[in-house]
Amino acid sequence: MSQKTYRIAIIPGDGIGPEVIAAAVAVLKATKVNFRFEHYEAGDDCRKKQGVALPEETLQGAFEADAVLFGAAGDTAAEVILRLRRELGTYVNLRPTRAFPGVPCLYPETNIVIVRENSECLYRGIENEISSGVVTAIRVITATASERIARFAFEYAQASGFSKVTAVHKANVLKKSDGLFLQSVRAVAQAYSDIVYDEALVDAAAMHLVMHPERFQVIVTTNLFGDILSDLAAGLIGGLGLCPSANLGDKYALFEPVHGTAPDLAGKGIANPTAAILCGAMLLRHLKVIDAAQRVETALEQAIRAQETTPDLGGVLSTMEMAKAVIQRMEK
Ligand code: NAI
Ligand code: MG
Repeated sequence: MSQKTYRIAIIPGDGIGPEVIAAAVAVLKATKVNFRFEHYEAGDDCRKKQGVALPEETLQGAFEADAVLFGAAGDTAAEVILRLRRELGTYVNLRPTRAFPGVPCLYPETNIVIVRENSECLYRGIENEISSGVVTAIRVITATASERIARFAFEYAQASGFSKVTAVHKANVLKKSDGLFLQSVRAVAQAYSDIVYDEALVDAAAMHLVMHPERFQVIVTTNLFGDILSDLAAGLIGGLGLCPSANLGDKYALFEPVHGTAPDLAGKGIANPTAAILCGAMLLRHLKVIDAAQRVETALEQAIRAQETTPDLGGVLSTMEMAKAVIQRMEK
């Protein structure tokens, strides 16, 4: 096992964020990999306490860490996670959506990866009230970012054993912006003759995802569509409690569950920690500690199969009890 000590910035955030992140940190500790966890504040509660949702200290902590693990932020999500993604230059949002054996869901065979462009589109947050009752939002699409995300999607497909990449867009209506996105993806696709390249309009893609998810392997899409479709995809496999994501750039990596603060569950201790634990496994893979990542994933699969889960999957365990069930299996 590697003797290096990895510095991990932990930003639990609000709502169920701290609950699921505590579970993920417990599992990471149980891998016996040398970690130094440094906790930082951000989010709604932080703004109440400190006056800012994303303090400078948190940002510095993220810059200095080998990887960041983030929970969720509530009303301040845009100020916190969108800013973190921008500051860290994480232009990829990688969202694997894979059904777990034993979880009752619509499509137990689902294995779809959404590669969401993470730096532009409507999430640049350029909104203006140009007169009373009239607001505009600017959708930024560039060839550079579109080609960059397309290259990532094809490289990822090749490296991960997928044979198809589907560009999801709305270029029939958003002729210039999505037109440029599509043109950029098409140009990149030509260099990957071993990968089947496919396209779908986002509205039709939403229907096909619900009716024939097996049509999709890797989806590459713009920021807003990727956000919406990843929650839809979560619904195919049993819910948001199961879906992790990685924000990746040239220098930094931040891992976060796809879900938000789940106000309906917050404080009850019953949020599913699977998404956060899988973020831990993605973090381990990112640090190239593959054996530990595999131990986490295998133990998690076994626990879920044995119904050692939170109530959303039909079990009776609390968030931390589920983490402990995973840890017990890792230690067997
Ligand atoms: P949400 O993702 O928090 O919850 C949607 C539904 O999924 C709820 O029914 C919730 O109970 C369920 N769910 C989510 N995580 C779960 C888990 N771990 N286990 C079991 N069930 C789970 O989305 P919602 O309710 O639309 O947003 C709540 C807040 O979260 C908002 O303030 C929003 O701004 C914020 N948000 C923050 C994000 C971030 O920080 N990256 C991402 C998404 C939303
Ligand atoms: Mg979302």
